Amino acid sequence: MALLIVALSLIGLVRTSSLYEVGDSNGWTTTMGLDYYKTWSSSKNFYVGDILLFQYNETLHNVMEVSSQDFELCNPKSPLTIYQSQNEAVYLNPTGHYYFICGVPGHCESGQKLDVLVVDPINESNSPKSMGIGEGQILVPQI
Ligand SMILES: *[C@@H]1O[C@H](CO)[C@@H](O)[C@H](O)[C@H]1NC(C)=O
Ligand SMILES: *[C@@H]1O[C@H](CO)[C@@H](O)[C@H](O)[C@H]1NC(C)=O
Repeated sequence: MALLIVALSLIGLVRTSSLYEVGDSNGWTTTMGLDYYKTWSSSKNFYVGDILLFQYNETLHNVMEVSSQDFELCNPKSPLTIYQSQNEAVYLNPTGHYYFICGVPGHCESGQKLDVLVVDPINESNSPKSMGIGEGQILVPQI
């Protein structure tokens, strides 16, 4: 399913799409420290068509997309979207800032929060970082 979405999203775009496992093999959890997901996302460039895969134990965690304000406040009371399955694929479209927190009380405060900035690849032609073949990337034939 994810592959199909990626393939469809790329018709007309000349680039590869990336699948990012949030937190890499550590997954989506509270135990990595306050800055772990910030560091994780700041080392990457996210483009329209990329996918975030949140992996977690669904009895312990969830994923909520929230506003920037609720992200700063760790407020889970007015989520934009709630994700609750343990292999959650979040498709990044359109461009913009995406803010995710775990809605379980205390988890966001302990660092389970992720902010990604998604940009348009067409305006990022001088960004070789994203164009290589890296771990977890899906190669789609170029058109
Ligand atoms: C999820 O967490 C619960 C509670 O700690 C535990 O009982 C269960 O085995 C965990 N499930 C998985 C798949 O790790
Ligand atoms: C690309 O950048 C230009 C100039 O900054 C902007 O006007 C345009 O809307 C951008 N295109 C897209 C598709 O974001």
